[in-house]
Amino acid sequence: MEEAKRYTKDGKVADYIPELGNANPDDLSIAINYPDGRCISAGDIDKNITLQSISKVITLALVLMERGFRYVFERVGMEPTGDPFNSIAKLETMAPAKPLNPMINAGALVVTHMLKGDSVEDRFNRLLGFIRELAGGPSVGFSEKVARSEFESAHLNRALCYFLKQHNIITEDVEILLDLYTKQCAVEMNCLDLARIGMIFAMDGVDPLNGKRIMPEDVARICKTFMVTCGMYNASGEFAIKIGIPAKSGVSGGIMGAVPGKFGIGIFGPALDEKGNSVAGLKLLELLSKNYRLSMF
Ligand code: DON
Repeated sequence: MEEAKRYTKDGKVADYIPELGNANPDDLSIAINYPDGRCISAGDIDKNITLQSISKVITLALVLMERGFRYVFERVGMEPTGDPFNSIAKLETMAPAKPLNPMINAGALVVTHMLKGDSVEDRFNRLLGFIRELAGGPSVGFSEKVARSEFESAHLNRALCYFLKQHNIITEDVEILLDLYTKQCAVEMNCLDLARIGMIFAMDGVDPLNGKRIMPEDVARICKTFMVTCGMYNASGEFAIKIGIPAKSGVSGGIMGAVPGKFGIGIFGPALDEKGNSVAGLKLLELLSKNYRLSMF
């Protein structure tokens, strides 16, 4: 922590969602959750983080369970892009205009579109219930303020939705989809909860404390694979070489890691690099991976 904390100065908090601009760039915290229930942590662990893009991997897990692999992968691909997370470029140059993977915004919007339910409330409540089950407690909440702030400023995501709608990849009203997507991104928790979710992925979808299977093994495996190939956007290749842990980042500065068969990691450090990943969080993971030989490669 002490070594990594120095790197918070090298980043900037995201402010394209105005409410996220209020975060303290000096914050840094980490929690590690083991399958036997032990949890170790350091730093500002009481601070809450909105999931932002970390929610993409969790929504994908629920949608794979609700719709099945075939339905989902007919609508979203499996390949990394090498482009920024909110890029529209590949949608136009690839045919058909199916997003390349579920971790970029275009793909995540399609995944959220596939969430079953009769209303935004119904769909969001089921997702929140699933997230609470993964986190193992009711402490997981949702920031209305962050959701509204993103909803009112999400012009690029609106553009992605309209493009996808033009090509019949999504069919619902764009404002309804954005309402649900921005709520999903504003689900809020601390890094202890985040570490516990990472642990469930690390343990192939089973809660080891009570033996309950929360998601099928194949769903956990697919999610972890996307975390390796696309979890850190256009920094995923470098991340795999330097760190080698399935992980997913978000612009709030969160990173969820899942060390297969070992433990889950939750990090919060809102100062970001130019690709939207937590600068000190990445440093922390790099040190952990090197010191404890955590790379899966
Ligand atoms: O859609 C957005 O722009 C945000 N709600 C989430 C983006 C994000 O977290 C990308 N992360 N690095």
